[in-house]
Amino acid sequence: MAELDLLEIQTIDNAPSVQTGKRVYIETYGCQMNVSDTELMMGVLIEAGYVHTSRPDDADVVLLNTCAIREKAEDRIVGRLSQLSHLKMSSPNLLLGISGCMAKHLAEKLLDQMPYVDLVIGPDSYRRLPALIAEAQDEPAMDVRLDREEGYLNLDPKRGEGTNAWITVMRGCDKFCTFCIVPYVRGRERSVSADEILRQVDVAASEGYKEITFLGQTVNSYKDGTNDFADLLKRAAQVSGIQRIRFTSPHPSDFTEKLIDTMVQESKICRFVHLPVQSGSNSILREMKRTYTIEEYLALVDCLRQRLPGVCLSTDIIVGFPGETEADYESTLGLMEDVRFDSAFMFKYSPREGTVSYRQMADTVGETEKGRRLQAVIDQQIRISSEINRTYIGKTLEILVGGDSRKGGGQAVGKSDGFKTVVFPKEAVETNSFVDVKISSSTSHTLTGHLAGVSLNQGSTR
Ligand code: 5AD
Ligand code: SF4
Repeated sequence: MAELDLLEIQTIDNAPSVQTGKRVYIETYGCQMNVSDTELMMGVLIEAGYVHTSRPDDADVVLLNTCAIREKAEDRIVGRLSQLSHLKMSSPNLLLGISGCMAKHLAEKLLDQMPYVDLVIGPDSYRRLPALIAEAQDEPAMDVRLDREEGYLNLDPKRGEGTNAWITVMRGCDKFCTFCIVPYVRGRERSVSADEILRQVDVAASEGYKEITFLGQTVNSYKDGTNDFADLLKRAAQVSGIQRIRFTSPHPSDFTEKLIDTMVQESKICRFVHLPVQSGSNSILREMKRTYTIEEYLALVDCLRQRLPGVCLSTDIIVGFPGETEADYESTLGLMEDVRFDSAFMFKYSPREGTVSYRQMADTVGETEKGRRLQAVIDQQIRISSEINRTYIGKTLEILVGGDSRKGGGQAVGKSDGFKTVVFPKEAVETNSFVDVKISSSTSHTLTGHLAGVSLNQGSTR
């Protein structure tokens, strides 16, 4: 699953003006799955009479929804918890809680080592949030049990800002890549029934969303006993009002011919695939237990490009995995040059307690060397992304308007079908509408252009 710029913090900013219940503030760390889980938690709490606040110093309950995928992620959250604990001086009744992957990973340790933490909630316990908050009024409360049955059926999220509706279609992971903590903190793979997902897609459409993103740790491993992931996409594409369908993250080994056929047939499915490769070396992929070879990965990329002309690709890369030699790392650089991904999330290997690589493989690449390798892959990717983005100059792209650009200056920002970030003068455009933008300049991250018109297709065709 792609990360939100390492630890981008997101809050949901839709507080009702009249607050009747206890106020809750949630800060989200990590992947889109956590963003979606925060929306779910907010839905559960609002149903129970809580109201949202966008300010921690105004809250009765402060929750950090966390990530445990790399040590740095956890360190940042520990620092933030300690910082937020100072709020207890002025609000002694404030409850401070931690939810999600890090809550499951560290569990009791959090309560033992951080006496100001009142609540520890694992990823399968969000239904019990109101009960756990009530318990925590008297003494610290914790529920980090994993529940193979929990798919959060019939719960509706309180969605944050933005023009995309996240819909979690499967949870957990059975792949057990040797470096990865996810199967331990999120538990075994389970899929939500297609009927329930279709209900959620209908809700999103009735709320006015034109774009949905199906989420899962290995989203294309989805199966509910009757439908596979391709069936699910096909059914979602029938929902009127929904114009764009995205999904993340697929596992290369489960990318079936049928899924590609469905992407070819259904024009609502965006031509963007985040396809984590992790390494360009077959021996490292074997040690990582990634279940594919570089040759198989490249064949999949070729097939995607042939059958889905113009498809944009991104990936995840880890450098400095145990035993990674200079030659292995150069193979990663070589693979990136061969594939020419549109973008990539690149990480230094971080040993995570409990994983196979932590228990059985020495962390052989030193920190400085990991840093050097990371910088080299980043530099190369920036160059490739810049080169690819330059080829868009002069082209017109259909953009779903997301809102104001962070840069301000009367600029709007939106996404293309291929997930390019496009900035253009705001003029009279409306958020959540489709416009045609002619690209005039580019960087490695962003395309900039001017309005070429309101899109006639309104997202319905490519
Ligand atoms: N160290 C570094 N990167 C990791 N990832 C997962 N576990 C680790 C780890 N232990 C990366 C992978 C994955 C992405 C979500 O995070 O690249 O695809
Ligand atoms: Fe982690 Fe591998 Fe599962 Fe992805 S497929 S969540 S990297 S174990």
